[in-house]
Amino acid sequence: MSDSLPRVLFVDDESSILDALQRLVEQEDWDCYYAKSADEALAMLEKQRFDLIVSDVIMPEKNGFALLNEVRKHYPWTVRIFLTAFARQETVVQALADGCVQQIIGKPWNDQELKEVIRSALRQYQQQKNRSIEFQAVINSIPLLPALPQSYTQVRSCISADDVDIDRMAELISQDVGLSSALLRWANSAIFGLRFQVETVKRAIVVLGTDIVESLVLSEAISQAISENLPNVSGFPLNDFQRHSFATAAISRQLIGNLFSSDKEKQDRAFIAGLLHDLGKLAAASFFSQKFAKAISLAKSSACSLSKAEKKILGVTHAELGSFLAEWWALPPLIVNAIHWHHDPAGSPVERDLMDAVHVANLLSHQFGFGSNGDTKPEEATEASWERFFLTEEGIEILKAKTEELVQTMSS
Ligand SMILES: [Fe+2]
Ligand SMILES: [Fe+2]
Repeated sequence: MSDSLPRVLFVDDESSILDALQRLVEQEDWDCYYAKSADEALAMLEKQRFDLIVSDVIMPEKNGFALLNEVRKHYPWTVRIFLTAFARQETVVQALADGCVQQIIGKPWNDQELKEVIRSALRQYQQQKNRSIEFQAVINSIPLLPALPQSYTQVRSCISADDVDIDRMAELISQDVGLSSALLRWANSAIFGLRFQVETVKRAIVVLGTDIVESLVLSEAISQAISENLPNVSGFPLNDFQRHSFATAAISRQLIGNLFSSDKEKQDRAFIAGLLHDLGKLAAASFFSQKFAKAISLAKSSACSLSKAEKKILGVTHAELGSFLAEWWALPPLIVNAIHWHHDPAGSPVERDLMDAVHVANLLSHQFGFGSNGDTKPEEATEASWERFFLTEEGIEILKAKTEELVQTMSS
């Protein structure tokens, strides 16, 4: 078998289950191995590196909990999945919460779903391999990353390389009351400067353009999906987060508009990058709620930046976490880079002017009082980024008044 194929180990004491799994995965580009007991699996793990293990829970002698806890201890890079008829049992659910396993698949399983869970896990694993050991350990401690919200993937599927199905896109968005009302609110907000009322979703798509609509749908869908299960993180009110994201998007767009007044596409890109720059905070609040709350409180008490406090308590910053998630979702490079570099734009390998715009906009947004969202003392703007926009005191006052007005139209 080829060395480059991902290596997957299935463990179950029932031969019929192993046979069924073998038939199911034979077409996949995976190098698969099968073990009938925990001890047999451990002996295999000792001999070679596995990327992923799928194990039964109830097995004679050593059970699945003991096996996967050993795997976590000795082979922390191996992704761990339970395949069990007791998916809802308390101890099994607890194993997910404790990080003993990263995903649970119920028996009897759905063939497509089982393969998709393994494929996603392997993709996450491949992406993780390129990061530092510390980063891998943090990512490994969370359950498998969530899939991109379906509402967004459906909208994205309407856009192909040379064509956009606007009718289908409008139909999909209209089916979701939350998304369509948000889109109309956006379209009618002062930021896009339209001089007429936009009353239908289709009209909104036509006047705003599909790039902007795609990002607005993405931002709304992620907020909806994550906020549904978001625990209450002290110091991180979701409303403030949304106001901050919007204000940063609005300021980025204005900064780029001042430099490139006739380049609407570039202005739109600045807006998109600003809107999603703090995606990692949502991820941190959702995956590491308690630690994230601690980081927020540490940043406050020691008057340091949130990124510094996150590094100390979580081991990663929200910029690193967010860009990892954006990459895992295969979002456009602009978004991945804006998330990654918004606190350090000089590091960005691309589109330095847009990264500078988001960086300065983020700081101005804090300065103007738009949603502290955990970051009470953000870093100073880097001089080079600041100078790019020729901002005078008067210019900043104008920007502030305009942003206040824009945020106001969005919240009313
Ligand atoms: Fe940030
Ligand atoms: Fe921010």
